[in-house]
Order: sequence, then C-alpha cells, then structure tokens
Amino acid sequence: SSSKLLIKGGTVVNADRQEVADVYIEDGIIVSVQPNIKVGDDVTVLDATGKYVMPGGIDPHTHLEMEFMGTETIDDFFSGQAAALSGGTTMHIDFVIPVNGSLSAGFEAYAKKAKKSCMDYGFHMAITKWDEYVEREMEIMVKEKGINSFKFFLAYKGSLMINDELLLKGMKACKSLGALAMVHAENGDAVAEGQKKMIELGITGPEGHVLSRPPVLEGEATGRAIRLASFVNTPLYVVHVMSIDAMEEIAKARKAGQRVIGEPVVSGLVLDDSGLWDPDFTIAAKYVMSPPIRKQGHNKALQAALSTGLLQLVGTDHCTFNSTQKALGIDDFRKIPNGVNGIEERMHLVWDTMVESGKISVTDYVQITSTECARIFNIYPRKGAILAGSDADIIILNPNSSFQITAETHHSRTDTNVYEGRRGKGKVEVTIAGGRVVWKDGELKVLPGTGR
Ligand code: URP
Ligand code: ZN
Ligand code: ZN
Repeated sequence: SSSKLLIKGGTVVNADRQEVADVYIEDGIIVSVQPNIKVGDDVTVLDATGKYVMPGGIDPHTHLEMEFMGTETIDDFFSGQAAALSGGTTMHIDFVIPVNGSLSAGFEAYAKKAKKSCMDYGFHMAITKWDEYVEREMEIMVKEKGINSFKFFLAYKGSLMINDELLLKGMKACKSLGALAMVHAENGDAVAEGQKKMIELGITGPEGHVLSRPPVLEGEATGRAIRLASFVNTPLYVVHVMSIDAMEEIAKARKAGQRVIGEPVVSGLVLDDSGLWDPDFTIAAKYVMSPPIRKQGHNKALQAALSTGLLQLVGTDHCTFNSTQKALGIDDFRKIPNGVNGIEERMHLVWDTMVESGKISVTDYVQITSTECARIFNIYPRKGAILAGSDADIIILNPNSSFQITAETHHSRTDTNVYEGRRGKGKVEVTIAGGRVVWKDGELKVLPGTGR
C-alpha cells in the first residue's frame, strides 16, 4: 500500500464542524485538510464524493484475550482488532487484569499479548486487590506506562470484586496521580444473594442471570460510587451503563456539577431482553453479560440520554466466548462466561440507531464514537480528529449504502452474534489505520505488529 493517500471530495466531519474537503495523508499522518488539493501521480486517490470522511472509531471498552470465568475470550489482540477495523474502529482501550494482584506483571502480560496488534490501542487497568505495593505500582503505570485509568469492580464477588474500603483507597490514589477512576457498578453482595436464591428455586438457566441482578442493584452501586467520588473529590467514569436507574444517578450528579462520565455500550443501547431468554440454551447464553441486557425501555432511555449529553460516549464491552465456552454454564447460569460481541458492529449500529433515526447529528456521532474518548483518555488531537498533524485513522461512510450483520460473515472468531440478522442504513466502505487502507471493497488487509 502507498504511503501517500488523497481522500477526495467527501464531507469531512469533526466533532465541532463538517465541510466538503480533501484529506491528504503522508506516512501515516494527515498533512492537510482543504478543498481541491492537487497531487502528483505517485499518490493513491480515494473518491469520497457523497460520503462522510470521519475519524476512525475509538472503542473505550474491550476485553481481548482476557482470562475470565474459567476460560479466555476467543478474540485476541489480532482477531478482535481485525474485526474492529472491518467495522470502522481504528483504536480501542482494553483492560489489563493484574496477575496475582501484581500490576506490573499484568502490564507485561498484556504488552506481550498486544504485540500482534494490527491497530493502535491503549490500556486501562483493573485494581482487584490492595497491598503495600499497589499505590507505588499505580504510580509507575501512570508515569511510565501511559495508563491513565483504573477500573474497580463492585461486582463479581469472590474474584474481581472489591469492597468500599478498597474503592476509597483506589479513588484517593487516582486523585493524587491525576488518573481517572472507573467503576463496574453493580452491588456484588446482593447479586450473589440473588444468584443463590435462583439456584434454590431451581432456576439454573440463563434467565436466572438477569433475574439475579436487577436494575436497582446497578442504580445502587452507581449512586454509591458517585457519592464516594464526590466525598474524595475526584472524577468518576461509569462503564457499561445499562439501566435507567444508573443513568439517572449519573444525570443527577452531572446536573449538580460533579465530574461524572457515563458510558453506555452498544448492547444496552440497541437490545432489550424481549425474546432473549430462549429455551434453547445456546441462543439464550450468548446474551449473558453483566450488567444484563434490560427490559424494553431502558435502551430507548439510554439513547435519549446520549442524545442530550447526559451520557457522553459509546463503548462495546466486546468480550466474546463461543458456544462451547458459554456451555460451561449449561447446568448453572453462574458459570456462563459473561460477555457479548460488539467491536465490529459499534460504528454501524450507533449510526443506524442514533443518526439515521434522526436522534443526533453527524458531528455528534463523531463526538460520541471517537472524539470524546480521545479527549477523556488523553490522546486528542492525535486521535479523534481529522486535522493536519493527527494520525491518519479515518473511515469513509456511505450513508446511502446498508449493512447487514451475521456470524457467517463477521470477522470476530466467535460463532454467534448478538445482533444476528440486523440490517441498517450507513456502511463503512473504507477504513484507514495509520495511513494504510486496511478495509476496502469488503476486503480486509491487516498485518500483525503494525499497531502501536
Ligand atoms: O459481561 C461482561 N461485561 N463481561 C466483561 C467484564 C466486565 O464486567 O466488563
Ligand atoms: Zn464490567
Ligand atoms: Zn467490560
């Protein structure tokens, strides 16, 4: 592929404006954005007339190659990223899980996994234990490894969950380091009670998963984390906001001036649980994630909150397990590995659900799929913008073409898709990552080791 590229005649969209212009790229960097750029014949030209030229998507929430619930997610840093690129996402931020509580060992393990990357990535880090080393290690992560954000799990009792004492310690450490605290907000003690009750009642199938972790437990944990962040006086990022209950806690705090960021994920925005708890285990188990996919109404409320700015950006929580892995929980829903796909589908589904439906503008689309994420996690304007000097991570989207989702043609390694059969308007026809055309005419050309 050429190191010189010209994208001609498209509507270039940034989070704050759109204009018809050409984009000239050299060696992976955007050199200029203006109308009628003239170039020599050593330059590859892509015609974008009638199409949108936008910053590649940045997914703030993924789990590639993660050991979890007795198995490992089936998409690794190569297959997950290849899937992402085919759907218009050019950067993601994954969660490093410490190894035996050691942050540096966790970092080294993830740095190794990520060597096969075919697109740029960043890391958050989970804090799952506390000992005399954690604070010093957090400092090393922030100052030497570029990790700006730490996730605290208030659920998954017995494995990742931490208590309020540790959450407070963690928030204080984040505050003193200038890092961002993130929470998985569900009350894990209450969830464990609910799970036990379901098993006692003989409800062992996937529907037991959703029944044991209702929205009230997400609302409680979200409100608690928000109040503790206010007490510590540090900003808070709430991952995978799945319910009205959690969204309203975030909205209330923001209206009162608190620095709280809310991240809905595509599954929560697009799906609801009607018809999901199929008697066929394989069909139902593919939807099992935490917090769970809610009843009708939560998704529409989350869409509305996103369109009015009460929620700020969209992630996926891409965390895939195939049918064989999901079957670990065939006799007990507590053992079904939690997680759904989305890294490949996010840009299309958000376009269709939010822009095509008239809920938000095209500039807002860029904001919630790319720019806001780049700003929050300190990589703007290198990413999240089509500006001279920015990385050439760009998509060309045709608003008049359409997409269709099926596990038969998707690029993820998993054998099911929670969006199976969905179609919609708007198609990512070209993805450019680091100045290379990696997706065009339905063809993916990715190279391991090219991601940074
Ligand atoms: O079900 C989920 N969300 N799996 C991934 C881990 C997490 O909690 O984000
Ligand atoms: Zn989580
Ligand atoms: Zn997650």
